[in-house]
Amino acid sequence: MIEPERIDDYPAIADLAWRAKRRMPRFAWEYLDSGTGRENLLARNRSALDEVRLVPRFLRGPIAADTQTSLLGREYSAPFGIAPVAQTGMMWPGGEAMLAATAKRRNLPYCLSTVSVAPPEAIGPLTDGRGWFQLYPMADREICNDIMARAEAAGFETLVVTVDASVLSMRERQRRAGIKLPPRTDLATIAQILARPAWLRGVLKHGAPKIGLMEKYAASNSTTKQALVLRDQLVDVLDWDYLREIRDVWRGPIVLKGLLHEGDAVAAADAGMDAIVVSNHGGRQFDAAPASIEALPAIAQAIGGKVPLLFDSGVRGGLDILRALALGADFVLLGRAFIYGIAALGEAGGDHVADLLKFDLINNMKQLGIERPVDARELLADRA
Ligand code: FNR
Ligand code: LAC
Repeated sequence: MIEPERIDDYPAIADLAWRAKRRMPRFAWEYLDSGTGRENLLARNRSALDEVRLVPRFLRGPIAADTQTSLLGREYSAPFGIAPVAQTGMMWPGGEAMLAATAKRRNLPYCLSTVSVAPPEAIGPLTDGRGWFQLYPMADREICNDIMARAEAAGFETLVVTVDASVLSMRERQRRAGIKLPPRTDLATIAQILARPAWLRGVLKHGAPKIGLMEKYAASNSTTKQALVLRDQLVDVLDWDYLREIRDVWRGPIVLKGLLHEGDAVAAADAGMDAIVVSNHGGRQFDAAPASIEALPAIAQAIGGKVPLLFDSGVRGGLDILRALALGADFVLLGRAFIYGIAALGEAGGDHVADLLKFDLINNMKQLGIERPVDARELLADRA
């Protein structure tokens, strides 16, 4: 168990978030950090995770903790990966390439968002087979099929279809911060940018944010045109029939992301999905939804091991990974944690988040007296 290099300076994800906030323009920080409505769900995702208790066992001698995990035909170094985050390269310039490189170096999956700054062609090759491509199904089937063909050609093996953000939520905090895609060029925005020289240097090096995937369909390198085409394409078109069409086209595994109801989970497995992500989009979509961890046990029971279950929303450390596994997940994704990392520390930040999570995971496995993360299932305390 090697201690991560920067652990004394940044022992928790919260320390990276603190620094990230001071290095990102306000509009970018607000986009990353916010939820929707009164942000009850953002808080509930955390408090419900904090309520999951595990009971340690002792006198088991040396614990040879082994975090290696197989998922969808691949072996990863630990049971966690990097969730798709739109406009990663706007929140930190060059961000998608940085996280793809972390995924390769640390042998973890990296999922590229539909709404990324970098196009799939630039990122797929960097992941060396660990890349997943996240798809928001488009109104135009031809565009949708073309996107899948591009993702496959770029080396993405796994497709992640996200179902819980076909209609964007109110996002009051984002509106207040004046977020627009592309970012506005008014004086207030320019002032926010000038206050963040490291971010500005990044933009000068990597170029202004765009929606790389859409450049082709907008036939333009204008971010405004790309955003307009995307807006027309991202409408609530997805239903089970459309999902089956996607299933017929994509040859590799498909992961359905964003379910909270066991009925949807069972239907997804029946529709040929290879895995499911229990998620509430990090609390960004529907403020009255259950915490993702609250929805997990019923889905795990209904699925009964038929397909692997992934979990996200609120995970901020290795202990949270064990909590999710204890309640039936097989794998965990983190969105904001990795973005805080690169915004705080640049390229090294993605590696630091991965190392910190793994170190914390192993340490907590030793506290519990277990050698495999899934053994946490045996140690769940009775809920009060
Ligand atoms: C997201 N998420 C997301 N999901 C997705 O499928 N496609 C996307 O483009 C995005 N974009 C996005 C942007 C930002 C700024 C955030 C914070 C999140 C949701 C993401 O994949 C994941 O479900 C959550 O981030 C998990 O919650 P935590 O780990 O951020 O608490
Ligand atoms: C978001 C979308 C784009 O959460 O997924 O901002």
